[in-house]
Amino acid sequence: MAGNFITFEGGEGTGKSTQIRLLYQYLKQKGKDVLATKEPGGTEIGAEIRRMLVCGDKDKLDAVAEALLYFVDRRVHLVQKIWPALDKGTWVLSDRFADSTFAYQCYGYDGRVSKEMLACLYQIAVGDFEPDLTIILDLDPEIGLARSYAKAENMSVKELRFESRELEFHQNLRRGFLEIAAAAPQRCVVLDANKSVEVLHRDIVKIVDERFGA
Ligand code: TMP
Repeated sequence: MAGNFITFEGGEGTGKSTQIRLLYQYLKQKGKDVLATKEPGGTEIGAEIRRMLVCGDKDKLDAVAEALLYFVDRRVHLVQKIWPALDKGTWVLSDRFADSTFAYQCYGYDGRVSKEMLACLYQIAVGDFEPDLTIILDLDPEIGLARSYAKAENMSVKELRFESRELEFHQNLRRGFLEIAAAAPQRCVVLDANKSVEVLHRDIVKIVDERFGA
């Protein structure tokens, strides 16, 4: 495909959306066509799926149902938005993609949904396609969760279903992201999300410039 697909991953409150906004502005200034999007909820149908997934009681869906819904959201996102944009040569920056499903629904729940099951769903919904680059923002979950709860204070709709899971869930998924990165070093870069917004942005620009000659 003609465009570049960059995904941002990490636990709660790691600053992904801020870094996507800054990279979006940087690429725009360079004259690139850029699309910033997110999962779940990058499409109209996805917005409905997002509400089911991130609002309400933490036990209303089990890990399998969640995994299925995330892949439905992803399929619609790919077909309606990501693939058409990449075909036109647009850069696509996505706030989360499939690594989140492996980290949250497999590692988070301590393997209740196996990697093999998720790999099957990936094959059905996504096929052989994958991001050109994945930036994983790594942070102690206690710091990230505190940031998330502080941000939710100002929101009318509280999207705290995953935040309300126990700390161990968040520690597991953090480990998951690090294992995913170690298994795919050519695609994934792990950055310390404790660094300042400006320093992280500089690091990300350097990585993107080196990788794609932006
Ligand atoms: P966000 O808060 O980064 O917008 O993501 C929404 C929530 O959905 C967040 O708590 C992480 C969770 N999530 C999963 O559990 N699995 C997934 O596949 C994705 C994309 C997100």
